[in-house]
Amino acid sequence: MAAPTSQVPHHQSLSVKAVAESCIQSSVPSKYLFVNDINGSPSDSIPIIDFSLLTSTNLHHRSKALQELDKACVEWGFFVLVNHGIPETAMKSLIDGSLEFFELADEEKQRYEPKSVLDPIMSGNGSMPNSESHKILAWRDFLKISVHPTFYCPEKPETLREVLRDYSERVRNVFRELVEAVSENLELEQGYMDDVLKLDACFQRFVANYYPPCPQPDQVMGTPPHVDYGLFTLLIHNGLPGLQIQHNGDWFKPDHSPPNSLIVNIGRHLEIYSNGRYKGIKHRAVVNNHSPRISIIIVNGAAPDAIVGPAAPLVERDGRALYRPMKFIESVEAMLT
Ligand code: SIN
Ligand code: FE2
Repeated sequence: MAAPTSQVPHHQSLSVKAVAESCIQSSVPSKYLFVNDINGSPSDSIPIIDFSLLTSTNLHHRSKALQELDKACVEWGFFVLVNHGIPETAMKSLIDGSLEFFELADEEKQRYEPKSVLDPIMSGNGSMPNSESHKILAWRDFLKISVHPTFYCPEKPETLREVLRDYSERVRNVFRELVEAVSENLELEQGYMDDVLKLDACFQRFVANYYPPCPQPDQVMGTPPHVDYGLFTLLIHNGLPGLQIQHNGDWFKPDHSPPNSLIVNIGRHLEIYSNGRYKGIKHRAVVNNHSPRISIIIVNGAAPDAIVGPAAPLVERDGRALYRPMKFIESVEAMLT
């Protein structure tokens, strides 16, 4: 399938960081203004899953953690993962390396201006392609990089390459354990999901978001509401609140996650694969008026050429397939355009 080129997300040549610097004391350009309800519900704790128990050889511990994972996936579609084994230094180095990228001159960043939705490296600003509000510019700059099965990285900053390679590999290992756990919860044979979705060649995309402080934070949107593609997204940030999650019709702020934790959410392809047992959950990010916020996500999916549809044993059990199978990468392109 030819890469779609005509429906690239709208973006401006100037980074939002530069726009923010020029309007510190004044008002935000109207193309960013957004009538919204960003004051979500009071903070709430989303479920916490202990990765070390999920992977424990103690069957009692593991089975309890599996039950908690299933409950979190059904009721929230989001959870905080602790004791995942990724060192804090690996996270911090990646946040610092990403910040260095956003601090480069706009001309350097423009080398990676988006041309089609799945360019291996793209940097820009503007809205999310599958969001409800793509006519309004989002108050964020982004850098998106495909890191697996083929690894890409911008030339600058030089510090980024090794930390990104290291972090994405660590995330991949955590992701594959999560898939194994979900597979067990779905009562599939061990390794079945990994084989069908060809996870040795799983697709991983890194996204760094830079949200500059905004003089009118309640009138812009950092990242508009959207559902991620992929199976599981793993998110870290630089300690500032901003992420909001839709749950029972309200927007929740999972602000009090323990230090060094990962925020995990279910993407559309796990919804499809589980034949609707788990749902891809809508989320968004709001901004503040005092400090830049950085969030870093890795979206983890099937291999680009794997066919993703409801798992055959689940279709048999449920009596029907609720989703149409599609080649993973084509389904992602369709979601992004
Ligand atoms: C996203 O889901 O794409 C970004 C969320 C965040 O910045 O916290
Ligand atoms: Fe997202």
